[in-house]
Amino acid sequence: MTTTPWHAGLETGIVELDKGNRSLVEHFAALEAADDATRLAACAGLEAAMYAHFAEEELLMQGCGYEMASHHCSEHAWLLGEIRQQMVTVTRSASSASRASSASKAAAMISFIARWFGHHILTLDADLGRALHARKGVRDRQPDGAREALEVSRTPLVDQRKNWTIAWSQKLALGVDVIDADHRALTELYNRIASPEVINRRDLLPPLLGELGKATAAHFAREEALMADHHYAGIAEHRAQHARLLDEFGEQIDDWYAHRVSSATMVRFLYTWLLRHIVTYDVPLATNILARQ
Ligand SMILES: [Fe+2]
Ligand SMILES: [Fe+2]
Ligand SMILES: [Fe+2]
Repeated sequence: MTTTPWHAGLETGIVELDKGNRSLVEHFAALEAADDATRLAACAGLEAAMYAHFAEEELLMQGCGYEMASHHCSEHAWLLGEIRQQMVTVTRSASSASRASSASKAAAMISFIARWFGHHILTLDADLGRALHARKGVRDRQPDGAREALEVSRTPLVDQRKNWTIAWSQKLALGVDVIDADHRALTELYNRIASPEVINRRDLLPPLLGELGKATAAHFAREEALMADHHYAGIAEHRAQHARLLDEFGEQIDDWYAHRVSSATMVRFLYTWLLRHIVTYDVPLATNILARQ
């Protein structure tokens, strides 16, 4: 199991938000390192722990009249529903099958929640943090490019029909043609996966997922060559982010192949995974390249 420990990139700068997020991230990391019995015992309390944390966060949203609140709260509710559903299989296998099978289901569930939570912090909680900063009059800590890019999460990229495709727009363009062309191609490939005709066809998904994995790896290699050409100071960190994104992709696809997550869950993951790569990680790189031109 791979766990991303708490790191500065997860901070929103809002103490109330970071405290709760940090303690949960550390809790998941401890559970992933724990023995089977400890993990199994902890599963039952996870929904309540997440619920308590989300409730606090939702109070913060109410307090600042946050306009993305309903979308954000629906993500929270979705995770709680997913935990409840996964708990049914953990509990069922604990009572009927071998202890080893329930332990592995518990481990998969914890790892799933930990990964979901990491994405959630980097996308929706980051945006909430920005809104809270603005309300409190705290100077925004994000660089300009990142601020603009985060605005993307406010636009209805996902329409009301819960269609998870991503509408490419200039808001997603970073201004470096070679990077934008790749990002656009990746988005189009992702959209084929997320399309209503494909998402429920397990027979159609594997070649497209394979293609997305290969295209992403090729894109990362191109970006890394570009960083080297530009003597980009953040190359090591950015390269590590690429490696982590590819690991996360591989794990999610493995989970889908093993029927641990549904196609809908896998597509939800790919949605935030792709946007996080484009609108969070690549912004400082593009800003740096543009500044040198
Ligand atoms: Fe949240
Ligand atoms: Fe990229
Ligand atoms: Fe990148």
